[in-house]
Amino acid sequence: MSLLTRVVLLGPPGAGKGTQAKRIAAETGLVHLSTGDILRDEVARDTDLGREAKGVMDRGELVPDGLIMGMIGGRIAAAGSGFVLDGFPRTVAQAKSLETISPLDSVINIDLSRDEVVARLTARRVCKDCGRIYNLAFRPPSDPAKCEVCGGALFQRDDDREDVIRNRYNVYEKQTAPLIAFYGERKLLTELDGRAGSDEVYAQILRVLGA
Ligand code: AP5
Repeated sequence: MSLLTRVVLLGPPGAGKGTQAKRIAAETGLVHLSTGDILRDEVARDTDLGREAKGVMDRGELVPDGLIMGMIGGRIAAAGSGFVLDGFPRTVAQAKSLETISPLDSVINIDLSRDEVVARLTARRVCKDCGRIYNLAFRPPSDPAKCEVCGGALFQRDDDREDVIRNRYNVYEKQTAPLIAFYGERKLLTELDGRAGSDEVYAQILRVLGA
C-alpha cells in the first residue's frame, strides 16, 4: 500500500497533534502546516495579522475563518499532494473551504479528556529556536530551561495558562468537535486514544497512513 499523503490531525488542544505532525514530517517528508505555529510567527514578527490574532489567541478563542483561509490556503495549494495539517481545519466553515482547495486522504482524531489536557499543557515547554516540544511532567529535558537538540531557550506559550487552557477546551468542544461527524460522514476518519505514549500513537498513525 502506498502512503496516504493528504492528512489532517484533529483533536483537542494538547492531544499531541504538533508532536506527531513534526515527527511525521521529519520521517516521511510530508509538509507540516500548523496554523498555530504560523500565527505565533506572525505575532512574533508583529505583522498586521499577528496584531489582530494575538488577543484572540491569548484568550483561547478562534481567529476568524477569513483570516485563517487567507493565511493557509496558498500554503496548502503549494504543498501539492503531500501535507499534514495540524490545527486546521478548526470549524465546519474552514473544512468546507478546504474541500475547495484540496481533497484529503485521511483525517486522524487524537482524543484526550479535559483533565489530561490541562495536566499536559500546564507542563508544556517549547524551544524558541527549533520548535521542539517538551513536557516537564511526561518528557522532561535534562535541563528544564534548554533544548536538548539545539540548545535554544525553552518557553511557555502565552495560552498555556490553566484558565486559558480550559477555555480552549470549551471552544474545541463547541466549534471543532463537530468535525468528527463531518469527516466520519465522508469516511475519512480514524479515531485514536491520545492517552497512549507518544511512540505508540505515532506507530498507530503510520499504520493508518499505510507506511
Ligand atoms: P494551536 O497552536 O493549533 O494549539 P492547539 O490546537 O490548542 O493545540 P496545541 O498546540 O496546544 O496542542 P497539540 O495537540 O499540538 O499538542 P502537543 O503536541 O504540543 O492553536 C493556538 C491558537 O491559535 C488557537 O487557540 C487559536 O486562537 C489559533 N488558531 C490556530 N489554528 C486556528 C484555526 N485553524 N482557526 C482559528 N484559530 C486558530 O503536545 C502537548 C503536550 O503534551 C506537550 O508537552 C507534549 O510533549 C505532550 N505530549 C504529546 N503527546 C504525548 C503523549 N502521547 N503522552 C504524553 N505527553 C504527550
